[in-house]
Amino acid sequence: MTISPAFLDELRNRVALSGVVGRAVKLVRAGREWKACCPFHNEKTPSFYVNDDKGFYHCFGCGAHGDVIRFLTDHEGLAFRDAVERLAVEAGLEMPQESRESRAVEAKRTGLADVMAAAARWYQDELASPGGVDARAYLERRGLSATAITTFALGYAPDSRTRLKAALNSYGVPALVEAGLLIRPEDSGREPYDRFRGRLMFPIRDTRGRVIAFGGRILGDGEPKYLNSPDTPLFDKGRTLFNLDRAGPAGRKSGRLIVVEGYMDVIALHEAGVIEAVAPLGTALTENQLALLWRVVDTPLLCFDGDAAGQRAALRAALRALPLLKPGKSLAFITLPPGQDPDDLVRAGGAEAFDRLAARAEPLVERLWQSELAALPVSTPEQRAGLQARLRDLARSVEDVDVRQAYEQNFRERFYQHFRTPNRFSPGYRPSPPQSRVAARKPADTILFALVVGLLEHPELIVPNAETLGRLQIGDTELARLRDVLLETAMRDPHLDKSTLDHNLASAGVGALAEQVRRSNRLAFFFTRQGDDSERAAQELGAVLEVLAALETVDAALNEATNRLRASAAQNDLDEQQKLLRQKDRLDARLKALARTED
Ligand code: UTP
Ligand code: MN
Repeated sequence: MTISPAFLDELRNRVALSGVVGRAVKLVRAGREWKACCPFHNEKTPSFYVNDDKGFYHCFGCGAHGDVIRFLTDHEGLAFRDAVERLAVEAGLEMPQESRESRAVEAKRTGLADVMAAAARWYQDELASPGGVDARAYLERRGLSATAITTFALGYAPDSRTRLKAALNSYGVPALVEAGLLIRPEDSGREPYDRFRGRLMFPIRDTRGRVIAFGGRILGDGEPKYLNSPDTPLFDKGRTLFNLDRAGPAGRKSGRLIVVEGYMDVIALHEAGVIEAVAPLGTALTENQLALLWRVVDTPLLCFDGDAAGQRAALRAALRALPLLKPGKSLAFITLPPGQDPDDLVRAGGAEAFDRLAARAEPLVERLWQSELAALPVSTPEQRAGLQARLRDLARSVEDVDVRQAYEQNFRERFYQHFRTPNRFSPGYRPSPPQSRVAARKPADTILFALVVGLLEHPELIVPNAETLGRLQIGDTELARLRDVLLETAMRDPHLDKSTLDHNLASAGVGALAEQVRRSNRLAFFFTRQGDDSERAAQELGAVLEVLAALETVDAALNEATNRLRASAAQNDLDEQQKLLRQKDRLDARLKALARTED
């Protein structure tokens, strides 16, 4: 018997996760969360977090992740049902009894499953019979092997309004209507009649392998090309994926799961030896279907047709998946040559052609970035700011905090890389030498080093300045990384003190880098001094940040203006450029005034 999701939610709400986890490991408060050394792997410094508000634990070290039930099954080794029972006792809840209704629903479903199995057999027999000659010819024309026809239990619905009804008469007309095999006309005076007529029949199975619906393709041209079963007590289109019962176990083994658009694509891939493919049923991927995919692999591969409609569908799936991402869970995209579907691809190039494309699948973040970048022009500062805002909105739609931050950071990096660094493909470009970036830094970076030293000294200043800090362009990749770790750490623990911070930096593997940055700092501010007046440090750091942010804006505008001037050589462009140069000088002077150079 299945336990209702509502009951499980009630349990999760009533039992504090930290209470249950706290019996297994020693928890320490960390802001709004708890932390501990992870009970799922060996570690000396805590990277295991428990969040009671969200009801989830997460280990940044080993990726262990789950709710209170998952903790009992994975840590205590209880069976799911036993875990639920133990929590029910703890919550003072009665385990739900199997109700008479749910027994009746179950019985009805079993009855309908029998009807569907019988229908599938009958359609198969029809395909093999003399009446199935056209359908068999069609299959042959499309190059389907006898094995594929048997494996996928393909059948044929003859072009008649009464034959199925007569053949399955013993199940009773109401059951055949409920199973979606007969259509009951609105006009109650008329008799129910066969839904599928003159169509090639694709049985759709649930994860247990039972036939729960059919897709029927017309032979040749006609509308609709595919007719699918309506939703029934057995079949919920948005929660079903064609071929998941086979592709799931195969995908778990190979670590790969492919989503294609159609039945024929699944079958063609299967014939080519790619057996881990599923298809939604003529609709956009639903949240439920995404959840099903993520139960099999971390990163399902979406392989939609190369045409505009297929690519739109891919983008829609990307946008739907984005809010639902969890640490480790993503999507990737296989782009087919325009005008080809997976069926065409493997018929021409076999499994190797497919594997080659699959190996180059594009990560979700890349697909989103490319699509935003291509959506609108980005040649003016306003347009670039528009792109930045769109990327920010995209990242903010991610519900999971950690994935959201990772997206914000990734988009930020892409944005600055795209508009800042010299083009990798331009002739003058040389990759920077692999020596210590800290030693080789440019004078312009010194102020950024001092700033980061200030944050190391005064971690309490990170959160209030997070937004500006996050946007700051730091050319030195090491320093930028340190900034990101600082932001992430402080976001997780707003009351961070210096010694906890040092601890966290060490466990994030940037302890030595932090030390190096501290030692190589050449500028003296109030905020770079140990134990200096913290209010004054806060003021000064805020002022420096403000100037740095203003400088970035002026720099970007100056670049634009200089380019315009090169192109136009017009007086007003020259004036604009000179004005920006004066602004930049003033900001530089302010920065110098703020810093009191030590050497
Ligand atoms: P396609 O038109 O790409 O189908 O629709 P296909 O699988 O490539 O079929 P062939 O090669 O033309 O025979 C993709 C999927 O969309 C759904 C079906 O699930 C189909 O497999 N669909 C399509 C419908 O539900 N109804 C339609 O009228 C068309
Ligand atoms: Mn096709």
